[in-house]
Amino acid sequence: MAKKRILSGMRPTGRLHLGNYAGALENWIELQEEYDNFFFIADWHALTTNPSAAFEVKEKTIQMVIDWLAAGINPENPIFIQSEIKQHAELHLIFSMLISTARLERNPTLKEQVRDLNSETLIYGHLGYPVLQAADILMYKANVVPVGEDQAPHVEITREIARKFNQTYAEVFPEPETRLTKFARLPGLDGRKMGKSNDNFILFSATEDEISKKVRTAVTDPQKVRRNDPGHPDICNVFIYHQKFNPAEIDEIRRGCESGMLGCVDCKNNCSKKLADFFAPIREKRLYYEKNISEVKDILETGNKKAQAIASETMADVHNAMNMG
Ligand code: TRP
Repeated sequence: MAKKRILSGMRPTGRLHLGNYAGALENWIELQEEYDNFFFIADWHALTTNPSAAFEVKEKTIQMVIDWLAAGINPENPIFIQSEIKQHAELHLIFSMLISTARLERNPTLKEQVRDLNSETLIYGHLGYPVLQAADILMYKANVVPVGEDQAPHVEITREIARKFNQTYAEVFPEPETRLTKFARLPGLDGRKMGKSNDNFILFSATEDEISKKVRTAVTDPQKVRRNDPGHPDICNVFIYHQKFNPAEIDEIRRGCESGMLGCVDCKNNCSKKLADFFAPIREKRLYYEKNISEVKDILETGNKKAQAIASETMADVHNAMNMG
């Protein structure tokens, strides 16, 4: 039986952090054998919150793809760039007739982003962000979309658009399902969502020294002031990192923290060490690709060609169904 297809992408944000790893990349890597995969860089999406991001897209794309490869994405999979496949823009336009603005305004992820941006005015392309995402997903007739929690509403909108297209014109698109990651939302050092704009992130290409400097700034249980004070691991950000990256010691750490035997400084040092060990092989593989950027560019070139071929087929189906275009 043919493998089911996965489509997943990220906006080009340059080097990735632990939140990107736990929230998406790790999931992609785990699923990649079982599925037929398409991975892509959502560079048009990067413009929806900042049009000037265009100038940085090329460099950030390369840096991000290096991290993907270093983390274990198999370069045999097509890895491609959204803006190189112009059909995404056409499909986005067609889909934009199949959903109401009221529906897009109800999107909880959008509401959260707008709050974070502190902006009164919503960009038209930002409102349509999930419509472009639907075009990305449905272009490749993906069955499964592995995403973090914040992206789940976009996959829901994708399903609605697929249904609407199929009802209005002809059955062309499958309804993709969401595959959530277990740690869909790894908090940043300060407890907010880990993100580049919050300066609460740890790059997974960071050195041990850089990691430990960052972890030292992490917010722990505010009631644990002195070493011997009993702590509450369930409200501690460092404890979440232990859960994710150091599961073997989790019970011991909980006991130590709650009893007041384990202080935050030691606990953080241990955490930094475990993070550095966990990411050491990735850091090493990264160095290889940094020296061989042309290899990364070739991988993208090949991916673009494969994506292009499928996009042409899908658009032929779309034109056929609509009897136009
Ligand atoms: N919106 C996703 C993010 O911000 C990126 C993205 C765009 C995407 N198109 C997609 C993810 C299609 C999965 C499938 O991370």
